[in-house]
Amino acid sequence: STPWTNGLPQVSPYGQTQQLDDLSLPISSARIRGPAMRQPREVTSFSYDESRDLHFDDSSLSYFYLLQDDVTASGGIDLSAGYNVFNKRDDTVDEHLDGLLLALVDLEKRTGKKTTGDIITWRGIVTKLLCLPYSRNEGFELNATWFDRQLFIEENLPYKLATQRPPDQRSELMSYWGYKFEQIATMPKPWNECSRQEIESRGQKPVSNTAQYCSVVKTGLGDVRMVIAGEVDCAWDYKPDPKDNIDSDPKLFDNPLDHYVELKTNRVIQSDRDASAFENKLLRVWAQSFLLGVPKAIIGFRTDQGYLQTFEEFETQKIPGIVKKSKYANPYTTWDGVDALAFLAACLRWLKTMIPKAEENVVWRIRYLPRSDYLTLSKTDEHSFLNTEFVKWRNE
Ligand code: A3P
Ligand code: MG
Ligand code: MG
Repeated sequence: STPWTNGLPQVSPYGQTQQLDDLSLPISSARIRGPAMRQPREVTSFSYDESRDLHFDDSSLSYFYLLQDDVTASGGIDLSAGYNVFNKRDDTVDEHLDGLLLALVDLEKRTGKKTTGDIITWRGIVTKLLCLPYSRNEGFELNATWFDRQLFIEENLPYKLATQRPPDQRSELMSYWGYKFEQIATMPKPWNECSRQEIESRGQKPVSNTAQYCSVVKTGLGDVRMVIAGEVDCAWDYKPDPKDNIDSDPKLFDNPLDHYVELKTNRVIQSDRDASAFENKLLRVWAQSFLLGVPKAIIGFRTDQGYLQTFEEFETQKIPGIVKKSKYANPYTTWDGVDALAFLAACLRWLKTMIPKAEENVVWRIRYLPRSDYLTLSKTDEHSFLNTEFVKWRNE
């Protein structure tokens, strides 16, 4: 796992050739066991509302509500309904790490303590790194900078915008199905606080992906501690009130993470090919949920015409075993959670040690070119991407 300088020139989609002094990390899915993951613990949470304004509370948390009968009785729920009035968030706006960093300012002002951890980032970024040994077709770029002795990592959005192929109508619609499923499977309050009318009309309003609820957790792998924030689709039943946990017996601690659920859609499985494609997709579902400590994923199965036919619960912990024991498993190509974690551990250690800690506010670029065998690291002369209010708070 020692990083070295490699002399293999690689051409990026921008036409740049990799510099000879770039540092690189080989991507392997070597059959080795890495260090254990620390159990994630929620340190705070926050919400974006329908106007994308931030609130340091749980106002945008949704609660699961979907009955198998509702799905089957209707002969399938039409997930395309309301597509013409979809209120889609503009994802070309670069929010950097703002929501997360402002939530940390709020937390630190309340507690009077700096949030500790070596790496601070979005869960989606760690998911990319965790899945990388088995998802080699898509390139990405990340920015990383040390500040206040912590390493902050964000996606380099200009790269993503410049390289992603413009979505065609079909994939736009399929992406809408995912949000529509979230809408029809959840309520804005726990079900016992909802009126019958609220429950029955839950699919009527336009779908929007602007409001989001995010959990911020402390976790770690080996000797790298992390603070990661990610969207939580809904709670299964309720979210424990932190006040009820104060001074409680640790054995009785009602962990908020235990109540969270990840929602996904997938096409109905009708062939061996569908089954094996679904098992590949479970890598992301597992990685994404595992990193935040979300114990359950609920997959809505839909037809190619976007009709929801059924849904099924998966325990996050059991996903790697289900895939490994499946009759579609191939010893050479099937993903392995232990190996993915070993790579992530090596990758985080590499970033923490290779980016010079003393050079605060210098922005480094982490690159993965499609189908390449290395992750590379190079210094840029760009300005820090950290939120100014956060920087000011930490410098006080
Ligand atoms: P599904 O993946 O269930 O279809 P998430 O599952 O991460 O909470 O994302 C919610 C939905 O956002 C997805 O639902 C999908 O519709 C949409 N989505 C997420 N990432 C996407 C991407 N890279 N491209 C297009 N749509 C995406
Ligand atoms: Mg989500
Ligand atoms: Mg989801």
